[in-house]
Formats: sequence, C-alpha cells, structure tokens
Amino acid sequence: MMVIRSCAEMSALAEQQRLQGNKIALVPTMGYLHAGHLSLVKVARQKADWVVMSIYVNPTQFGPQEDFARYPRDFDRDLQLAESVGTDLIFAPTDIEMYPPPHLTQVVVDKVTAVLCGASRPTHFQGVTTVVSMLFNIVKPHIAIFGQKDAQQAVVIRRMVADLHYDIQIIVSPIVREPDGLAMSSRNRYLTATQRKNAPVLYRALQKAKARIEGGENDPSAVQEEIRRTLTSVDEMRIDYVQIVDGETLQPVEKLDKEQNILLAVAVFLGNTRLIDNAIVYT
Ligand code: PAF
Repeated sequence: MMVIRSCAEMSALAEQQRLQGNKIALVPTMGYLHAGHLSLVKVARQKADWVVMSIYVNPTQFGPQEDFARYPRDFDRDLQLAESVGTDLIFAPTDIEMYPPPHLTQVVVDKVTAVLCGASRPTHFQGVTTVVSMLFNIVKPHIAIFGQKDAQQAVVIRRMVADLHYDIQIIVSPIVREPDGLAMSSRNRYLTATQRKNAPVLYRALQKAKARIEGGENDPSAVQEEIRRTLTSVDEMRIDYVQIVDGETLQPVEKLDKEQNILLAVAVFLGNTRLIDNAIVYT
C-alpha cells in the first residue's frame, strides 16, 4: 500500500490509473479508523479497481471552539487497518499541501447546510464541501463512498456533486454499530465509562420512534417529543436537536406519510462529547 502526501503526486498517479482504464474509488476519512470506515473500503473494493483512502483531519470543518486539536489521531494503526481491508493507496496530505496560502476559495452549498448540524455548526459544511471538492479534483475518483451516520453530510455532498456536475457516483453505506447499538464514531473514545454505557439510548430512542411511525403514527411532534423524553432521562445528556425531516431536502415534515422518505435525526451532547445518529423510515 502506497502512502502519498503530495497533491501533485496523487494527481499524477490518479491520472495514470485513469489512462490504464482503471476505476478509482475514494473513501474520504479523517483517520482514527474504526469498523465503519473499513466497511466503506470493503464497498469500494467491490466496485473499483483502485481504492484510495484519504486521511486528513480537515481544519476548516471545525469551529473555533471545537475539538480539532484533540481530534484522535493514530496514523500507524490507520495504515495497518486500511491495508488489512485492501486499500491500495493512502492519501495523507499536509495542511500546506491542501491549503497553500492565501487559499481564498470556498465551496458553499446553500439551504441543506443551514439546518440540523449546520444550525449549530455554521461553518462546518462549508469546510466539508471545500475539502471534499479538492479531494475529488486531486484523486479523480469515479466513485466516492460516504457513511450514512453523517446523513446530512451525505445529502450535502450529493447536492454539491449534482450542482457542480461532478461525474462521480456517490455511494452512501449503512451505519456500522457496536453490539449495543451505538453508532461507530472516532469521537466515541472521548466518552467516560458511564457515558459510554448510556450512549446507546440514541439508537434505542430512534428505533422506538421508527417503529411508532411504521405502526401508523403520523404526528411528527409527538414522535419528536417522545425521543426527547427518552434522551433527557439520561444523565449528562443535552439535546442539540431532534428532528424529523424529509430525507432529501432536510426540511421538517408536517405529517408523516408513507410516500415520503423520512429521516429521524438527532444530535446530543453527552458531557462534552457531541454525538449524532439517525434512522431512515419508509424506504
Ligand atoms: O466524514 C468525514 O470524516 C469528513 O467530514 C470528510 C468527509 C472526510 C471530510 O473531511
């Protein structure tokens, strides 16, 4: 498995692969890999000839008060894990390679970034779309794989790809969970033992809500209220949002309807750690 740090080198290698007729898949990550990331590589492996994983903790998607400096990093372990599932190349650029000064350009997706996580992290998605767009230009993938755990990110990226006419197929792969239901996330390592024990309440609350909707409940407020009650029964849990939205526009739905693609989305703080989770209903 190759490790490349320079954008120019990465770009040249990608060009060569394209000239040889190989299909390139990109799995963008910020490292500190877990089984969720590895599941994305496994999908990539099935769909492409050459699998590139990017490992880059992108500073521009963190707010000033967020955890950029302490975001977990373990590059050597990441290399072993990535190789174990058949990654061909790791692209791990430096900040100066990705954002050579003065770097004045941002990619901004409107509307779908203003709600849910975008409401409490106003600059987050602009950082994500800028870096993903740069990664697309450098790695030149035919396919890119993202996780459903970051449901809003997936919607935003799909929007960007459609609006900017990127010729890239976006695949969104299912959430990978711990045996007790907690969605895998690099940030789970911040949790204390008690918080970790309590964290699966997110999954339980979402599953209960999904079952209630599938059982015929059509009032989103009633379902949201029940999720809130379940979550706030847990010590140290503070709700950022609990929302039932259309899975594509991310706008709140007024009535729960079988014809609609519905996303139940939650974000909480458990102590100081922000956790997100979601469930799709009716698709
Ligand atoms: O989902 C992530 O890990 C990041 O937001 C991404 C897509 C790698 C961009 O930095």
